[in-house]
Amino acid sequence: MFTIGVLASGKGSNLEAIIKHIQGGFLNVKIGVVISDNPDAHALEIAKSSGIPAIYIEPGKYRTFLENTQEEKYIECLKKYEVEFVCLAGFMRVIKKNFFAEYTNRIINIHPSLLPSFPGLEAWKQALDYGVKFTGCTVHFVEEDIDTGPIILQAVVNVLNDDTPEILHQRIQEKEHIIYPIAIKLISENRVRRKGRRVIIDED
Ligand code: GAR
Repeated sequence: MFTIGVLASGKGSNLEAIIKHIQGGFLNVKIGVVISDNPDAHALEIAKSSGIPAIYIEPGKYRTFLENTQEEKYIECLKKYEVEFVCLAGFMRVIKKNFFAEYTNRIINIHPSLLPSFPGLEAWKQALDYGVKFTGCTVHFVEEDIDTGPIILQAVVNVLNDDTPEILHQRIQEKEHIIYPIAIKLISENRVRRKGRRVIIDED
């Protein structure tokens, strides 16, 4: 079966959505392992309670990326659990060269804005502060430059008059929980092709 690995730093609602879609039969994939850089990540609890190996691997001394020796441990762990495809789900660190060498074109991410608008942190807050009327979320391939990889799927969310950052993020997350499992399904069925920067989804 198509085996994915999930990397998560936080509360793990996207991981939870993926698990629910597997349990409900929508997704025919296996989560081989969940790895976190945060020992207190709720994502680890979610994985454990679903019987998925849940592993904390120290990130090392840097704040925004993994130290080289530690990144090697992440890769070793993914290989140990026979992970074919890596899904970042709220993993708040930048991935570096070795990772891409091992998993070329096989790393995707969910980002809480309509990229290329609002890359980086707290994208929902950036959208609100900027004053856009629409924002949303994006599933994209991960490349070395942050939040720039080819776009697989996007969903749009209206920005409402009385939105706060929290409320807007919550509505964006509702859409994330729909499109991330769909993107994983399309990939697992080999229906996603890259054509330069464009991603072509083959019909059923
Ligand atoms: C999600 O909104 C995801 O899009 C965002 O972190 C949140 C994780 O939520 N990711 C990024 O901002 C990456 N740049 P979760 O832990 O509940 O899945």
